[in-house]
Amino acid sequence: MCGIVGYVGDRKAFPILVNGLKRLEYRGYDSSGVALSQNGEITLFKKQGMVKEMEDHALEHDTSGSSGIAHTRWATHGEPSDENSHPHLSNSGNLVLVHNGIIENYQSLKKLLLDKGYTFQSETDTEILVNLIQYVQEQESCELRKAVRLALTQVVGAYAICIYDKSYPEDIVVAKLGSPLVIGLGVNEKFIGSDATPFLEYTKEVIYLEDGEMASVSATEDLDIRLIDTNKEVDGKIHQLEMDLESIEKGGYDYFMMKEIYEQPRAIYDTFRGRLLADKGMIKMSGLEEYSDRFRTADRIIITACGTSWHSALVAEYLFEEFARVPVEVEYGSEFRYRNPIIRKNDIIIAISQSGETADTLAAIKMAKKAGALVFGICNVPGSTISREAHAGAYTHAGPEIGVASTKAFTSQITVLTMMALELGKIRGEFSTSEYRALLRELSVIPKKIETVLESIDLIEDIATQYKDATNALYLGRGVNFPIALEGALKLKEISYIHAEGYPAAEMKHGPIALIDENMPVFVVAPNNGHYEKLVSNVQEVKARSGKVIAVVTKGDTEIRNAADHVIEIPETLEALTPLLTVVPLQLLSYFIAVMRGCDVDRPRNLAKSVTVE
Ligand code: M6R
Repeated sequence: MCGIVGYVGDRKAFPILVNGLKRLEYRGYDSSGVALSQNGEITLFKKQGMVKEMEDHALEHDTSGSSGIAHTRWATHGEPSDENSHPHLSNSGNLVLVHNGIIENYQSLKKLLLDKGYTFQSETDTEILVNLIQYVQEQESCELRKAVRLALTQVVGAYAICIYDKSYPEDIVVAKLGSPLVIGLGVNEKFIGSDATPFLEYTKEVIYLEDGEMASVSATEDLDIRLIDTNKEVDGKIHQLEMDLESIEKGGYDYFMMKEIYEQPRAIYDTFRGRLLADKGMIKMSGLEEYSDRFRTADRIIITACGTSWHSALVAEYLFEEFARVPVEVEYGSEFRYRNPIIRKNDIIIAISQSGETADTLAAIKMAKKAGALVFGICNVPGSTISREAHAGAYTHAGPEIGVASTKAFTSQITVLTMMALELGKIRGEFSTSEYRALLRELSVIPKKIETVLESIDLIEDIATQYKDATNALYLGRGVNFPIALEGALKLKEISYIHAEGYPAAEMKHGPIALIDENMPVFVVAPNNGHYEKLVSNVQEVKARSGKVIAVVTKGDTEIRNAADHVIEIPETLEALTPLLTVVPLQLLSYFIAVMRGCDVDRPRNLAKSVTVE
């Protein structure tokens, strides 16, 4: 979490830094700050609140400097406040630093510095780091880069940092371990970002710093990249960005979340592109082909992820077992990494992550790699850490997802996983050709069917009006739609702050049924499939206790329609593909309820899009 931006070159730095921060606000938005180098001094602007508040404050002053660093924060150490906002100055006032990550041994470092007479204005671990660097620099009488390197060897934790000395503002030192950092290469200027969005309009050439690397970034010199532990020089690989500016703007929607919900048909076509060849009866996924023998003979697939990506992993569990008949286990990254799990060489670990930066998922795959397993990454953000760490993988190609609540990334993940399950089923000899072709054909028309679901928007908005004041909600589903119940509940709680729980419908009678009364909305995911009759009974059970039922059903449904308070229809499709349709009304319901409650759906409180700390 936290976003960092840096600029060095001939332009005015402030607008570049502030616009960059606004694009990184998805990474944290409780406070922000900018350090500009002007007239031989460091000018600092820091404010609690959104970047706009800091910008308005700064614009009352001189902001003419042509290099600087900036930060948007998601608090870890110390509450959101002006003092705790980055950038942080060292005691001498000569060094200024922004940091994304956590310094785990900050307390012992703080004690060392307090003993040396250092003082601290904030409660952050970052202020300790900048002072540690000052201390090392003074002890060693060395240039900044060496001091950064030596100081970082004493640090335990994760970081992406930018730091400069007020006497050499045209030379920004950056370093990375565990948090992302990318450098944009312009002509006589350079850009730094937690991702590339802050400088998309200026350059498409980027270098992703790898873990354990640091670099000196100046406007005109070539990048000097070195390993932190040995100071050995390394070559940075230049990547060409394919993202464009339009894809990270709102395009007329009030919120990114709504834009992204509406982008789902297009995003899924992009996920299919070049891979799903329904006319030819083929799926082509290069990452899978490369390791097809390993996949064919794998004893087990372990899927690890967090949050919404974990829900798509649960959907995949049903699909892989159904189509490929391979045992699947689904693991939260955070549990897996600390559990001493049994990982065998013939296991395949699939890591799913929109951002490709989630700390727990990343740690889980590092552990799996050490154990000798093949790691396959499914990420949305090109060049992200998980995508680079994995042996092989498949991008979801959903395009940038800015809203904190994941929507199009989720359906694109399920699309990739469905194609993988089908392909695995084929290579493991589980289908007849005609079955396989029929599945491919039906998958190829899913985007059109999502468009049909989106046409129910007015009905969904009307239903949302009736439940916007609920304090609790229950989501029920069965089979492959049980994870969709979990996802519906997560969407509602994270953006509207209504307490919501997802359950396998049959589990309701083992506890949650006690909660049902006339004030409890129960969202039932009930397409017409193998579990339908059982779901009809579950709906009756809720109605018998005066609960309100809002059901997602297949077009033409009559039985649940007669019992439920509201129904939202999806087009008919194969059971395995229903999650791609049933989740859409639940996304829209959460969106409308949150907007009606006055919540900022793109930036829900306490959350960040990219969770790069554990
Ligand atoms: O980037 P990732 O997919 O690894 O992120 C995982 C979760 O943090 C994420 O899905 C989170 O739960 C979303 N806010 C859900 O909408």
